[in-house]
Amino acid sequence: MEFDLTALGESTRYRLLTGLVVPRPIAWITTLNENGTVNLAPYSFFNVLGNAPPLVAFGPSPKNGGGPKDTRRNIETEREFVVNLADRRIAEMVQKSAAALPYGTSEVEALGLTLTPSKKVRTPRLVESPVQLECRYWGTVLVEANEVVFGVVEYIHAPDDWFEADGLSLRPGSVQTIGRMQGPGRYCTTTDQFDLGRMPSADALLRETGEPSPR
Ligand SMILES: Cc1cc2nc3c(=O)[nH]c(=O)nc-3n(C[C@H](O)[C@H](O)[C@H](O)COP(=O)(O)O)c2cc1C
Repeated sequence: MEFDLTALGESTRYRLLTGLVVPRPIAWITTLNENGTVNLAPYSFFNVLGNAPPLVAFGPSPKNGGGPKDTRRNIETEREFVVNLADRRIAEMVQKSAAALPYGTSEVEALGLTLTPSKKVRTPRLVESPVQLECRYWGTVLVEANEVVFGVVEYIHAPDDWFEADGLSLRPGSVQTIGRMQGPGRYCTTTDQFDLGRMPSADALLRETGEPSPR
């Protein structure tokens, strides 16, 4: 199949791209509503994009009917947010939390989830999530109708038993966060992992393929 995206409508482009570019990690984002309650919503246009500073970004589309979604609205007011990562145990909750409750009504309370204080930001994090990234708002970039919200990660919470004795290296296979796949309800786990070792140097690759070395 071949597709000319310049000739296709918005929903078809969305279906194709979100079906093909998978899995997408899920940011389950907590933010502070103006009335002090905690908003929670999943975003799978999300990733880590750099390390100087440690940068994450997510793409909220405008609300049906226009205007920013509650997550973006809160982040731009409070200038902080928490990305809670999700595993298989809480996947159904992630999906349910996408319900568009009226502004100020907490999905955390509606779903019976538990909050605990963060270290660097006032926004609390979710006890049910295995990993939480405390983020400081960096800015929003608008690319025509696309909104991209950037944050700098200031603090990470992750389970002790995911790490080797050095306290820094993750044990292979310990991270089992879920990803989003095609369609509105399809997800994946990351239980089937493999290791290709280090990236080869240019010399090693050329030796392997039999090409003469450029030097
Ligand atoms: C797994 C999952 C991923 C989602 N990813 C996005 C996304 O990347 N961008 C977006 O605008 N909406 C996304 N949504 C829909 C939002 O979660 C939904 O619109 C939600 O009501 C937004 O809540 P808020 O207004 O409290 O921010 C996703 C929904 C699910 C279930």
